[in-house]
Amino acid sequence: MATCGNPNIAFKFERLPTFAEPTHYDVRLSPCLNQFSFEGQSTIDITIKEATDVLKVHAQSLLIQSVSLVANPGDAAKTLQTTYDDKLNILSIQLPSILQPQKVQLVFKFVGELNDKMRGFYRSQYKDKNGAEKFLASTQFESTYARYAFPCFDEPIYKATFDVTLEVENHLTALSNMNVLSETPSADGKRKVVKFATTPKMSSYLVAFAVGELEYISAQTKSGVEMRVYTVPGKKEQGQYSLDLSVKCIDWYNEWFDIAYPLPKCDLIAIPDFSMGAMENWGLVTYREIALLVDPGVTSTRQKSRVALVVAHELAHLWFGNLVTMKWWTDLWLKEGFASFMEYMFVGANCPEFKIWLHFLNDELASGMALDGLRNSHPIEVEINNPNELDEIYDSITYAKSNSVNRMLCYYLSEPVFQKGLRLYLKRFQYSNAVTQDLWSALSEASGQNVNELMSGWTQQMGFPVLSVSQRQDGNNRILTVEQRRFIADGGEDPKNSLWQVPITVSVGSAPSDVKSRFLLKEKQQEFVVEGVAPGEWVKLNTGTTGFYRVEYSEEMLTAMLPDISSRKMPVLDRFGLINDLSALLNTGRVSIAQFAKVAASSTNEDEYVVWGAIDEGMSKLLSCAREMSEDTHKSAKQLIIKMFEKSGAELGFSEQPGEDTQKMMLRATVQARLARAGHQPTIDKFNQLFNDFLEKGTPIHPDIRLATFGVIARCGGQDGFDKLMKLRETTTFQEIERQAMIAMSQTPEEALLTQLFEYGFEKNKVRPQDQLYLFVGTGATRMGQEFAWKYFRDHIKEFLGKYGGANSSLFQRCLKFAGESFASEQRALEFRDYFCNCTDLTDMDRQTLARPIGQTVEAIRLSARLLEANRKVIEDLLKENNL
Ligand code: BES
Ligand code: ZN
Repeated sequence: MATCGNPNIAFKFERLPTFAEPTHYDVRLSPCLNQFSFEGQSTIDITIKEATDVLKVHAQSLLIQSVSLVANPGDAAKTLQTTYDDKLNILSIQLPSILQPQKVQLVFKFVGELNDKMRGFYRSQYKDKNGAEKFLASTQFESTYARYAFPCFDEPIYKATFDVTLEVENHLTALSNMNVLSETPSADGKRKVVKFATTPKMSSYLVAFAVGELEYISAQTKSGVEMRVYTVPGKKEQGQYSLDLSVKCIDWYNEWFDIAYPLPKCDLIAIPDFSMGAMENWGLVTYREIALLVDPGVTSTRQKSRVALVVAHELAHLWFGNLVTMKWWTDLWLKEGFASFMEYMFVGANCPEFKIWLHFLNDELASGMALDGLRNSHPIEVEINNPNELDEIYDSITYAKSNSVNRMLCYYLSEPVFQKGLRLYLKRFQYSNAVTQDLWSALSEASGQNVNELMSGWTQQMGFPVLSVSQRQDGNNRILTVEQRRFIADGGEDPKNSLWQVPITVSVGSAPSDVKSRFLLKEKQQEFVVEGVAPGEWVKLNTGTTGFYRVEYSEEMLTAMLPDISSRKMPVLDRFGLINDLSALLNTGRVSIAQFAKVAASSTNEDEYVVWGAIDEGMSKLLSCAREMSEDTHKSAKQLIIKMFEKSGAELGFSEQPGEDTQKMMLRATVQARLARAGHQPTIDKFNQLFNDFLEKGTPIHPDIRLATFGVIARCGGQDGFDKLMKLRETTTFQEIERQAMIAMSQTPEEALLTQLFEYGFEKNKVRPQDQLYLFVGTGATRMGQEFAWKYFRDHIKEFLGKYGGANSSLFQRCLKFAGESFASEQRALEFRDYFCNCTDLTDMDRQTLARPIGQTVEAIRLSARLLEANRKVIEDLLKENNL
């Protein structure tokens, strides 16, 4: 991790004392959307378990007006003295005397702000159909923001029931986790008081409210649950896709988990300002608009499949997370990893058109490995030293690696056994909390195997193994020698000598889709015998790429597979895995760019989008190295790419053909975009024509090739193209188009335009804070853009910290990473690191919070630098060989 500042002043974080527990809350809030404030009163029923004269609760950014105690029902409330620790956000309440174990009530009166930081109880802004500015209020409590709305025991272990009452203006809709019990006029008759039914026992981070002018569509599940999709006025029709899916989803999970969803209703609501993608509040799931709303003719296939995944993810949490909750955030993966896995299970079974398991490999497996290959990774079960580190662990380890490790285990145990174990776990811990060990025990019971021994290496150690394989033939047997070591992206040594239990599967050339043999690698090195393999037949490990490990083959083994990669006789999941492994090994220096190019060249028949994506990623490494070398080299490398992909581009064309599957258009977009980036003029002309036909004749651009089209306009269209994209962004009401135009514009090669874009987005705040990070996304496209983004970030770090709510904000951390990660030299790595060490706008606590993201970015920069150094000569030779 990046170490600077004084490690000794590391902030010591404290949990709430365990001698008192809440059992029930009565929360009454009365928000005022005009004044951005709310008044509140809450009563907590508390069980004191050990004698004490103090009680502690969380509260933050609340003005506490009074705290009083009711020791026995019917007693008069006694006002109490309090002290507040603003680092821990803990309110200590002095009791009048030492109280013995008993039940008491604390009553709080307070006021709070409907803030604009997208956490706690906050406001969102939008324009109604007449262009008038409107607000709605909603909540985001995970991980530690319930305390912004009412004093509470804000740790997941403290489950309680909640009665919520909201007092709001008559024309507004008020929503909470449960169904409405009653709606009555307020005391002064001017507002209405909406009282909701009591929730089941649950953690504070799952409580939610929403208040605003809302409209909805609704449907019922087979099991009788009322499902609704809420939006701001004018958008409810766009909720139809998600509504249909969510109805199916609840019924599907009811059956898969064998536990019925216990609430009478579940609302899904699209919130205009939302920092994450979505949040699984029990009965009132909140989403970014783009993650919930679909317009059939306009939404891209990719985005539509993302909506399906997000909907299914949050609904899976209703079981994994809401019904059974982790004891502490260390086991966050118990909910995020499983919601992530179940989202693919649901979409895989119910939306076959998305071929979602293919995308899994790129979006989950490869992305988990990309982060976990860094020295600055962390184990899935992650120690939390400081609550400020919480937002940062919602990363590709907690999501993508956990998800992939679950998939590996599911394949290892078989789906029915895995499901049986999960059902057991959910039943055993429902309305309660669990740790990882509890899950392993349930799975061990279901499978009769020692799952703990198998899995703890995967969740307690950081990193994952790469297996080096070599072979020899013995009659009809193939003998494999397999050695494991930690895969580290820089190819260096593992300081810890970690070992894993690795489930190995083997397939062979004569039956490429079948698992021919299975082994469990436990030692550093082992030999395995695969029987019945003809001499010369290829042998491949990790059939279907179900394991969370990479494989490095001897030259001979790899070469034997090339023809079947080229002919696509090898199944697509295997082709992807092989190419992705190779591309990752580039940075270790163990595979050269020339070797990779050889495999890419034998893949020109590739017809699967995801495999093409993996090839494209490797080739983009070649391009970025060449760019760093010299103008001429960059040009020649582009020529090489054109030479390799021109034929595919011509065959694929630009338009959708009748009867194609949903992946084909995405493949087309990737290939054509790569050719355009390489400067292939006919392709660029064609993209320009698509854009002009759209503007001039209204000919729609296919949603799946829209981003690629915008990108070409931004990179090649100068001021004129930029202005057109800007106008499009300003006039569209559809968030995906807005986002795509923004990402494209950020790829402009002209500094003046980039300056204009960043001023527009950040300084004039014309882009919602939730989306501003997209302005950084395309800047890595040019050296000027890199430089610009890094400088802009430094010049405005103070404003960023202010508007996103501090260094622990994930929006801030994502901007930080984007601002540096496309550099490729040791000097830049040092500059990046030193900047944060010396930046006076950061406190030492901020530096502690940011240590891991900074460390990861520094490491990424160094990896690109290594890649470049290892391949300078290789690239020159490769270009020469191709007469370029
Ligand atoms: N529980 C999270 C939302 C969350 C993330 C809250 C970080 C607090 C901090 C939610 O279930 C989630 O995982 N959302 C994802 C989308 C999902 C499809 C992977 C997100 O917001 O990106
Ligand atoms: Zn989640």
